[in-house]
Order: sequence, then structure tokens, then C-alpha cells
Amino acid sequence: MEIDFQDLDPRLRYKILTSTVIPRPIALVTTRSADGVDNAAPFSFFNVFGENPPIIILGLQAREPGLPKDTTRNIRETSEFVVHLVDRALAEAMNDCAVNFPENISEFDSTKISRAKCQRVKVSRIAEAPIAFECRRTLILQLNETRDLAIGEILYMHAREGIIDPESMNLNLSKYNIVGRLFDDLYAPVLETFAHTRLDHSGWLEKFRS
Ligand SMILES: Cc1cc2nc3c(=O)[nH]c(=O)nc-3n(C[C@H](O)[C@H](O)[C@H](O)COP(=O)(O)O)c2cc1C
Repeated sequence: MEIDFQDLDPRLRYKILTSTVIPRPIALVTTRSADGVDNAAPFSFFNVFGENPPIIILGLQAREPGLPKDTTRNIRETSEFVVHLVDRALAEAMNDCAVNFPENISEFDSTKISRAKCQRVKVSRIAEAPIAFECRRTLILQLNETRDLAIGEILYMHAREGIIDPESMNLNLSKYNIVGRLFDDLYAPVLETFAHTRLDHSGWLEKFRS
């Protein structure tokens, strides 16, 4: 099958992209409006794109042309946001945060997430999240009237006790029950792992000499 993306309706592009590029990590993003309302919403067009500077990018769709989501408006107005990763225990509340609550209603007061303080930004973070990254906006790229990319730098990180070894900084996978998004309403935990050692060229030659 061949698909010409330029001729394809954007809704079908969405369907194909979100069902083939899987699993995607989920950023549960908190922001605070200029009026002081704490907001939370999930975004799976999301990833990290480097460590120096430590860069996070979110793909933000408008509700309709020219009408941004609360998250987009808040990042534009305050420059601050917190990205939380989502584990199995937080998954239901994450989905509840995707409800289109009116902008003056906080997801913290309507769903089962509770506030914790941040160190570098004024935004509230989610106490129940296994990992939280406090971020400051680097820039927002407005690609068209329905699609923004928010690029932010990670300033500070919170990790639940036991997930990261403080000596080695290694992850304890057995304590990190993270979930990814598949498509539609489907999610998946990390079920099994396997390893491939990455070789340099001399290691590569050695492997095939034996
Ligand atoms: C798992 C999941 C992933 C989502 N990913 C995105 C995304 O990448 N971009 C987007 O614009 N909306 C995404 N949404 C929809 C938003 O979360 C939803 O529109 C939300 O109401 C926005 O809230 P806000 O207006 O408070 O920012 C996703 C929803 C779910 C449940």
C-alpha cells in the first residue's frame, strides 16, 4: 500500500500517524493561567530532543482554527509548564484531565490529582506522578492556525523515591510502571525488554572475526 500524504485528509493523516508511531510517551502537562487557574492536560505528541540543552517538545492542536487549548494559551502567557510522565496508577486521572473543562475550572479540583509545589516555576505539579520536569518555554512555533509546537527547557526534575538510584543515576524499571499511548483509547505498559549491545567499529570487526 502506498499513501500520498499530500493528498490525504488531515483526519486520516492523524489516524495513520497515531496508530503507526506507537507507543508514544504521554506528557501530562500542568500550567497556570494568567488568572491563577491550575490546568492539567495530556499530550502524546511529545518527546525529549536532547540533553544539552535539555529540550522537550509538545505538539499542541487548537480546539478550532484560532482557538488554542488552555495549555497552549497558558504557555504563551506565562512561559512555564510542568511535564509529568504517566504510570499505570495515574492513567485514569490522566484520561480525566483530557475532558474539555471550562478554562476557569481546574482539573486539580475536578479529578483525582493533587497539587505539589515546584522549585523553579510557579505552576503546580502533580503529587501522584512518578516523574515531573519543570520547564520554561524556549519558543512556540506556530506552524499554522491549528498546530503549535511548544519547545521548552527542563529546569528541574522530581522523581518518586526508588525510581532512580541516587549513586548510579540508573533507572529501576521494576519501580517505574510507565504506560505509552497506542491509538484511540488504547494504552500499553512496558511488557518485556531485550538488550542489544551497541558496538564501535573495532567491536564490530571483532564480532565478525570470531
Ligand atoms: C492520551 C492523550 C493524548 C493526547 N495528546 C494530545 C496531543 O498530543 N495534542 C493535543 O493537542 N491534544 C492531545 N490530547 C487531547 C487533549 O488532552 C485535550 O484536548 C485536552 O482537553 C486539552 O486540555 P486544555 O484545554 O486544558 O489544554 C490527548 C488526549 C489524550 C487522552
